[in-house]
Amino acid sequence: MIASATRAKLIRVFFAVWPDAAARDALAQLAGGVAARTHGRALAPSNLHVTVAFVGDVARERVADLLAIGAELAPDIPSFDLTLDSVGTFRGTGIAWAGPSTTPAVLRLLAQRLAGGLEARGFAVELRAFHPHVTLARRCRAPKDASIATPVSFGVTRVVLNASESAGGRVRYRELAGWALGPRGSDDPESLMR
Ligand code: 2AM
Repeated sequence: MIASATRAKLIRVFFAVWPDAAARDALAQLAGGVAARTHGRALAPSNLHVTVAFVGDVARERVADLLAIGAELAPDIPSFDLTLDSVGTFRGTGIAWAGPSTTPAVLRLLAQRLAGGLEARGFAVELRAFHPHVTLARRCRAPKDASIATPVSFGVTRVVLNASESAGGRVRYRELAGWALGPRGSDDPESLMR
């Protein structure tokens, strides 16, 4: 167990991209519908996001290194559109999510560059396969995979470093810093990955 004095010096952080207001509203509606059908709990609309790299608990002094990673890589990643067209579930978890049926190459590139930056600076890197999603609801009973009648699309022009904080039993995500991605690319994103 981590002693409370140590825990106070730690901060739980992750890199994410966030929907614009219209997409957030559409996702909040979707989350409400899924939660109602499955007796689950919808996430607060302000918490709807796509995690691109989960870092976990780090010492506060190390946030400077995370800021350097974001600042370094963001301008080289072109802005892109993300379309969430399916609702899925992580088996046995009660979690319902919205995600893209095909992950855009640029999003995969962003995840790879973040993982590379984290590894280069000695952070533990998430080993699970990258499965981009917006968690919509938790504690769902028998959620079902489905396609979204009207897919939710938004432009991704920033990547954000967030702190995950809990107070009074609620989780809140606070933006620590955000960086503009580069201009939309005319280049084939696959070529950037080589
Ligand atoms: P989730 O939405 O599927 O719960 C903050 O916790 C964010 O980091 C959430 O989006 C969460 O995903 C994501 N995350 C990724 N890996 C995680 C892990 N190992 N533990 C907790 N959260 C993780």
